[in-house]
Amino acid sequence: MNEKPSAPATERNRDAILEVLREELSEISSVLEIGSGTGQHAVFFGASMPWLDWQTSDRSVNHAGISAWITESAVSNVRPPLDLDVQQAPKLPNTYAAVFSANTAHIMSFAAVTCMFAIVGRVLRSGGIFCLYGPFKLDGNFTSSSNEAFDSSLRQQDPQMGIRDLESLQELGQDNGLEMLRRYAMPANNMLVVWKKLG
Ligand SMILES: C[S@@+](CC[C@H](N)C(=O)[O-])C[C@H]1O[C@@H](n2cnc3c(N)ncnc32)[C@H](O)[C@@H]1O
Repeated sequence: MNEKPSAPATERNRDAILEVLREELSEISSVLEIGSGTGQHAVFFGASMPWLDWQTSDRSVNHAGISAWITESAVSNVRPPLDLDVQQAPKLPNTYAAVFSANTAHIMSFAAVTCMFAIVGRVLRSGGIFCLYGPFKLDGNFTSSSNEAFDSSLRQQDPQMGIRDLESLQELGQDNGLEMLRRYAMPANNMLVVWKKLG
């Protein structure tokens, strides 16, 4: 691949996400990222938090781009992508101290989001945390008109996509031994939600 893929949104949201992750991941060693996309977040967060061992992953179609970003950035703590489609029930270590995923829950079908939570519940060690960033609904309501418009454009592209209700994700967490700890309001009507794997 000659040219690295680029998702301009990652450059807009990365500093605000980093501010939260620096706190949430300060005592953490290993992170699995689900749906690394272009790989831009991974190399930025890896370089900014050198104490982390950051494992990228995504469906194989995105691997060349993620690897290109890792190679060019020369970060030593970001690993090449694992082939991880959450609906394929992959075999993964169950020793991660954290899982991070950004802008995936509204792109995946709800069935895939359900699989993602099952995987998170399996791969996290006891006390590990799951940080999920993106737009969410609260009590079935959109938090902004721009999110509502975004949701309908997603559903027009694919009726399986759409902004998820945080309460339904809380239930998925409970089903998989994950307790919702806190949520951060982020710029552009996004949130970063943190779950903890119970002992
Ligand atoms: C909007 S992109 C977000 C990428 C990146 N996290 C970011 O914030 O720029 C959605 C990502 O979800 C991934 N994804 C969608 N369905 C998936 C699945 N079933 N398993 C794993 N990843 C999936 C896509 O491949 C893509 O990388």
